[in-house]
Amino acid sequence: MNNLRHIAIIMDGNGRWAQARGLSRSEGHRAGSKQVEAVVDAAIAEGVEVLTLYAFSTENWNRPRLEVETLMKLFAEYARHSLDGLQRRGIRLRVVGRMDGLPMLPRMALNHAIEATQKNAVLTLNIALNYGGRAELVDAASKVVAARMKSGDSSPVTEEEFAAALYAPDLPPPDLLIRTGGELRISNFLLWELSYAEFYFTEVLWPDFGPAELHAAIEEFGSRQRRFGKV
Ligand code: FPP
Repeated sequence: MNNLRHIAIIMDGNGRWAQARGLSRSEGHRAGSKQVEAVVDAAIAEGVEVLTLYAFSTENWNRPRLEVETLMKLFAEYARHSLDGLQRRGIRLRVVGRMDGLPMLPRMALNHAIEATQKNAVLTLNIALNYGGRAELVDAASKVVAARMKSGDSSPVTEEEFAAALYAPDLPPPDLLIRTGGELRISNFLLWELSYAEFYFTEVLWPDFGPAELHAAIEEFGSRQRRFGKV
């Protein structure tokens, strides 16, 4: 059986789920937000250590204003209303992305929950918010350059040095990437970290993706041969 420490998920299909029911896209995101709880619990039951969820990309600001506002409200609500549940279940909340670009309400609520849950150790729930894979690489490069200017070191940059400048260098890289909603692409998600991840694509729309679907993805992952570049 393959070792499965970290699952990353691109939660796609909220809009289509809503459209199929004659609801607004915002209703779709609400339904998607409810599904987060069930999948987090299922991930704990499966013994996963880290669950990274792609909730808002650096490109998502280009969506209609009302939709962006709904999402920001959902993130703030999630941080506030889920805090007790996170504590009870031993979940540590983290965020990767340009958090300083978020509106004040979600930023403050999330920061509070991150701090309050930092000692929890059952599962790390890592939410990618205002996240872009290219932005992360550029931010890491800037950090390395700044440190190098300070130290005057001009030796070649190593992979280890660069990786240490990424948003969450302490987390193991994802073993399994799941994308719901039927599209076959990674949409600027975790470009560095996914180097050796197994990919699993499903047609199931995010609001319909539950514990049984997560289990099916994990089963499929278990049957893959991972070689990490070796024979
Ligand atoms: C993609 O579906 C989904 C998003 C851009 C938002 C994901 C956010 C959530 C699931 C809500 C809250 C999350 C947390 C962590 C509280 P889409 O709108 O692109 O769907 P479509 O492709 O069917 O239009």
